[in-house]
Amino acid sequence: MTSEPTSTGNIETESSAGDNSATLERSMARSRELEAAIAAEPAKFRVLTGDRPTGDLHIGHYFGSLVNRVRLQSLGVDTMILIADYQVITDRDGLGPIRERVYSILADDLAAGIDPERSTIFTHSAVAALNQLMLPFLSLVTDAELRRNPTVKAELDDTDGRPMSGLMLTYPVHQAADILFCKANVVPVGKDQLPHIEQCRVIARRFDERYGRADASRPVFPAPDALISQGGALILGTDGTKMSKSKGNVIELKMTADETAKAIKKAVTDADRHITYDPVARPEVANLLTISGLCLGRAPESIAEEIGDGGAGGLKKLLTEALNERLRPHRERRAALVADPGYLESVLAAGNARANQIAEATLNEVRTAMKMLY
Ligand code: TRP
Repeated sequence: MTSEPTSTGNIETESSAGDNSATLERSMARSRELEAAIAAEPAKFRVLTGDRPTGDLHIGHYFGSLVNRVRLQSLGVDTMILIADYQVITDRDGLGPIRERVYSILADDLAAGIDPERSTIFTHSAVAALNQLMLPFLSLVTDAELRRNPTVKAELDDTDGRPMSGLMLTYPVHQAADILFCKANVVPVGKDQLPHIEQCRVIARRFDERYGRADASRPVFPAPDALISQGGALILGTDGTKMSKSKGNVIELKMTADETAKAIKKAVTDADRHITYDPVARPEVANLLTISGLCLGRAPESIAEEIGDGGAGGLKKLLTEALNERLRPHRERRAALVADPGYLESVLAAGNARANQIAEATLNEVRTAMKMLY
């Protein structure tokens, strides 16, 4: 297919989304505006956020997203939390113990402070109408457009000649359905996900261009905005490289205090005994200081100053205490939740029921717009 599926405008924004610093600058500026608007009128916003259940959540998830979603919930924003089980089947590595992983994420969301009375936690596979949106949405994108998506492209380059599944190619479209089924207008994401948000905005716009309602001022789908976390602190693994379970460099939320101490003990540092915060020259030490700062609500520079000549040993001792102290209430709540699988099941069932209601209502609007209401 060489022609665009619809007569749409701004191809430039579409193809360059997320891969340059100007785009990132714009998204950061937009995020700051959004934060102010949310604080002023939280009831105007619905947040959709989600995790792929590929394993147990770690401190990167905790400081990078759980804390933020609880903050948004406390501001009074309607918060939808997706456990993206159908997204896991794009992976070549297989499903793994999917059920256990889903409940493990659910336990961490609740332990972190997500209140199932105020927020909705749900899974893809239980919400048929969400998945049905994928069909009309797929008709609005080209395969060339999907192959240009940086994440899909990286996956394609990574496959070593192995074939890529149709679901992997089209998962940005599925992600658009995740966001649009509930008409979320705010999506908290890391910058790697920006192209997906842009793709989602394009799909929302094209749907209305092609099928729009008689009243064009009331589009079926509002265009969502990415909310890039302003704290933005990117935590690395204990070896100073990107966190990855297979590298054994992550600290999981479900670990005990002893396991945490052991993981920190073997963290990589450097030969300079005098501790300074220098993310460029000393990324490993800086990372441990960053995590300490997040635990204590302090600037990493001031922690470095305090440790001074205390060396890596002093830094690790401080971090171990700070992290275990910070996670203690979370871990206690988590253990209680995991001990009560019936409760976890009831929370997920209620979340799925609410997500289904919302998805059915949206699908009805879509059917109406497409004149397929029989
Ligand atoms: N792809 C996201 C991740 O890997 C998870 C996700 C699935 C998501 N659907 C989403 C995020 C919709 C935001 C919006 O973390």
